[in-house]
Amino acid sequence: MREFKVAIIGGSGLYRQSFIENYKEFTTDTRYGKVSLKTGTYQDKTVYFLPRHGDSHNVPPHLVNYRANIAALKTLDVDAIIATAAVGTMRREMVPGTRVIVDQCIDFTRQRPLTFYEGQEGFVVHTDFSEPYCNEVRSSILKAGRSLDQAMIDGGCYICTEGPRFETPAEIKMFKDWGADVVGMTSIPEAILAREAGLCYATIALPTNYAAGLNNGLLTQEEVLAAMEKDRPQLEELLKASITEIKPGSSCSCKEAGKYYPRENQ
Ligand code: HPA
Repeated sequence: MREFKVAIIGGSGLYRQSFIENYKEFTTDTRYGKVSLKTGTYQDKTVYFLPRHGDSHNVPPHLVNYRANIAALKTLDVDAIIATAAVGTMRREMVPGTRVIVDQCIDFTRQRPLTFYEGQEGFVVHTDFSEPYCNEVRSSILKAGRSLDQAMIDGGCYICTEGPRFETPAEIKMFKDWGADVVGMTSIPEAILAREAGLCYATIALPTNYAAGLNNGLLTQEEVLAAMEKDRPQLEELLKASITEIKPGSSCSCKEAGKYYPRENQ
């Protein structure tokens, strides 16, 4: 039987996974640049781990090489990607400590390469983005979290800002009016590229703070990192249970959405 491969893209505060056995580090080359990964096994699955901001949190969200990361995971032929993302919350019910398994997103980025498709195949490609996050991977994470009694929220809208600054209270008020629930700086273009590559991808949004204007006082990166650090043991439990839960699926539209993924990337 073909091995089942799960990739974890770790956001702020998540740089390695102690539960991975047969642990190895390697670097792979893509058309977009080099990517450093960690790999190993968990139960009977191959796991790849990719710390989005680098091993020592030195790559800011607007400079992450998202295309290289997703192209590398596509070449490795992963079956599912679970991303984690620290976010600010705009909803009282999405308190810090809950896990929002987002199902929609809004792109408020300004200057990132947003696509793999640059006409290289000789035709224009418009990718369906009605389901920005894979329903099967989302369901597995929700089931895993509920079995652990973690506070799981099924669905939510992630708005992605350019960063690296935090938002103004006026922006947050507008985002809330638009229907966004949580705000972060990384899901775009990561979710777009995963969809263009036909990969099953879902994000665990982790509210670390109330967004600007809804909190008390100034926002600091230290509070975001401290909240992530505090949550890390429970988050690792959730990741382990999610990896166990994820099965080869067929009811999502991810593969079909990525059918034109450029051959020259492979
Ligand atoms: N805004 C944007 N990104 C974030 C926040 C926030 O309030 N908290 C954690 N990541």
